[in-house]
Amino acid sequence: MLILVTGGTGFIGSHTCVELLKAGHGVIILDNLYNSKKDTAARIEALGGGKLVFYEGDIRDRALLDSVFARHAIDAVIHFAGLKAVGESCAKPLEYYGVNIGGTVTLCEAMRDAGCKAMVFSSSATVYGSENFVPFREDMPTGKATNPYGSTKIIIEQLLRDLLASDPDWQICLLRYFNPVGAHPSGQLGEDPNGIPNNLMPIISEVALGRRDCLQVFGGDYDTPDGTGVRDYIHVVDLAQGHIRALENIVGAPGCAIYNLGTGKGLSVLELVRAFTEATGVEIPCKIVGRRPGDIAYCYADVSKAKRELDWEARLSAADMCADVWRWLLRQ
Ligand code: NAD
Ligand code: UFG
Repeated sequence: MLILVTGGTGFIGSHTCVELLKAGHGVIILDNLYNSKKDTAARIEALGGGKLVFYEGDIRDRALLDSVFARHAIDAVIHFAGLKAVGESCAKPLEYYGVNIGGTVTLCEAMRDAGCKAMVFSSSATVYGSENFVPFREDMPTGKATNPYGSTKIIIEQLLRDLLASDPDWQICLLRYFNPVGAHPSGQLGEDPNGIPNNLMPIISEVALGRRDCLQVFGGDYDTPDGTGVRDYIHVVDLAQGHIRALENIVGAPGCAIYNLGTGKGLSVLELVRAFTEATGVEIPCKIVGRRPGDIAYCYADVSKAKRELDWEARLSAADMCADVWRWLLRQ
């Protein structure tokens, strides 16, 4: 199949493009390089063992989208492009609604007019909110967002369901990622966040590299075994492979399929820190501070649906995630 990957030079997109090439699919990337670099495309080609086509541009640019669809017989779109920083979304809601929702509307309009109606969308476990109980299952009602970023994911999920209701030919897959971490085992691809990171693994990385004195652990008094927050960390290569299974399953099968992509196992902040030290030999000094607003105690997936319907499950361990991140960091 020939796949248009929006946001394909980003963290999850780049790993997914490698897996697409390895599986023999054609890849066209559209990315405006807001949070990634152009030379990633060449590394994807080297690791995936194939050529791709790269367009530098914005998903809100309808004329560009039309020309891409006119030039290539695209079978499906994997839609990663968007803004993803929770804290920033509170300060810049218009940008988040504009890029994430506005961009998705423009992309869907271009797809409809080109007759390409298969899309895999990057959603998030954030859509479960704080109203549901772990493990989160796909048939639970979505919760209430605590920030504009989360709102955009809930709204886009609804938008895509409404699109399907208006035209049953659409083939939609909503993938709800839990906490993607890790890097390509080659050390050639990884997470390279612009600005000040917010997420746990990029902050552990900064401490490991000596750029920060210590990790501030947000809350030591949760109702969890060691009092720190529990999350479902998934290796980005496992996550990328989940996209290939999802794509191959939904193309030609109209409807809206929803899958959690996680490991199904929760790890506390201190457990992840311990795994990092065991994998790398680097000590991470920690200081327990107050809870971060909006955080919940537990977030992990029920992954049985993806295993049953996609024959996919995460294989890589926390040790793999940490060792691969460290290899990526040392090659920077
Ligand atoms: P990323 O920032 O590394 O990748 C996103 C890519 O989209 C970047 O390369 C960026 O340059 C591009 N982009 C941004 N705005 C664009 C625009 N207007 N037009 C074209 N390209 C644009 O992020 P990621 O971690 O790879 O996340 C990919 C998707 O997965 C996002 O939609 C994100 O919300 C979602 N997601 C990520 C996580 C996570 O923890 N990383 C968790 C759940 C969901
Ligand atoms: N944490 C710390 N110190 C830090 C950073 C994080 O203790 O400096 C803790 C958090 O309190 C939480 C855990 O580490 O317990 C993970 O935090 P992240 O920020 O890495 O991830 P979240 O689970 O809060 O959020 C992630 C994505 C969001 C997404 C959400 C739900 O960043 O985009 O998962 O899917 F919405």
